[in-house]
Amino acid sequence: MRILLTGPTGFVGARIMDALPVIPAPSLRGMEESQVRQMVGELEPDVIIHTAALSDIGQCREMPDESYHANVELPLWLVRTGVRTVIFSSDQVYSGLPEPGPYTERQAKPANLYAEHKLEMEQRTLDAAPETVLLRAAWMYDMPRYGCRNRGNFLVNMLRQEEIAFSSTQLRSVTYVREVAAKMEKVLHLPGGVYNFGSENTLSMLDTARWLAETLRLRIRIRDAGPRHDLAMDTGKLKSFGLSFSSVQEGLMQCIRDYSLMEG
Ligand SMILES: NC(=O)c1ccc[n+]([C@@H]2O[C@H](COP(=O)([O-])OP(=O)(O)OC[C@H]3O[C@@H](n4cnc5c(N)ncnc54)[C@H](OP(=O)(O)O)[C@@H]3O)[C@@H](O)[C@H]2O)c1
Repeated sequence: MRILLTGPTGFVGARIMDALPVIPAPSLRGMEESQVRQMVGELEPDVIIHTAALSDIGQCREMPDESYHANVELPLWLVRTGVRTVIFSSDQVYSGLPEPGPYTERQAKPANLYAEHKLEMEQRTLDAAPETVLLRAAWMYDMPRYGCRNRGNFLVNMLRQEEIAFSSTQLRSVTYVREVAAKMEKVLHLPGGVYNFGSENTLSMLDTARWLAETLRLRIRIRDAGPRHDLAMDTGKLKSFGLSFSSVQEGLMQCIRDYSLMEG
């Protein structure tokens, strides 16, 4: 199967490149629909995994037109080529829900422009091509990768910083990106629709951070502050198709083992 991967140099894309034989797409920045169509026509994929996006919430707020192009138009143009596409969405679509999580795929209420664009993208790509698979991905982590930009993530922030703040009331599905990458082959066979895609967590972010600090014997100071709204996801739908993630703690332990972070 010829799998075209967009965003191959990005955080998620680089890990998918390690996990699957894919054809890396060129940068899609600034492309028009005709150029997207031409690129897909030349590379002749059977399926597309789309990770390219403007994924920084602050940048999306500052550059709304660029966010719309990257996060709504590009994915829509990809599905309009007629090639079945798997697209990364985000747990941020739950950011404005007043009730506590875990949330199911039927719920959504974005509280920022990035999330608004992701939700519009989900709806428009599914309208245009119902076989499209939309993955509501959680906040993902890994150790830095040689030669790649590293803008920080839960694990790296914990290792780097002297003081950090997490909320004692926020549940969030923090997820090991290599587990995400390892699941992509099976994802290609999911029926079209929206799927919560990440680890389930019964610990608050504050307790998760405290647990990691204890496990790795970090001297970091952890304050109870920061965003309080839940972003925890119910992954029952994904499980009903035979795909399930480790818990947040199991995922972190796997990453710790993979990088021998507790040795020496
Ligand atoms: N990282 C997370 O924790 C997280 C959490 C939830 C959801 N997601 C979603 O998962 C997907 C992958 O995330 P990621 O962290 O891998 O993203 P990323 O590293 O920030 O970006 C992926 C790639 O997108 C391309 N890109 C950047 N700006 C663009 C623009 N304006 N127009 C077109 N392409 C652009 C870049 O490739 P080129 O330089 O080649 O153009 C970049 O390497 C995204 O859809 C993101 O929204 C990520």
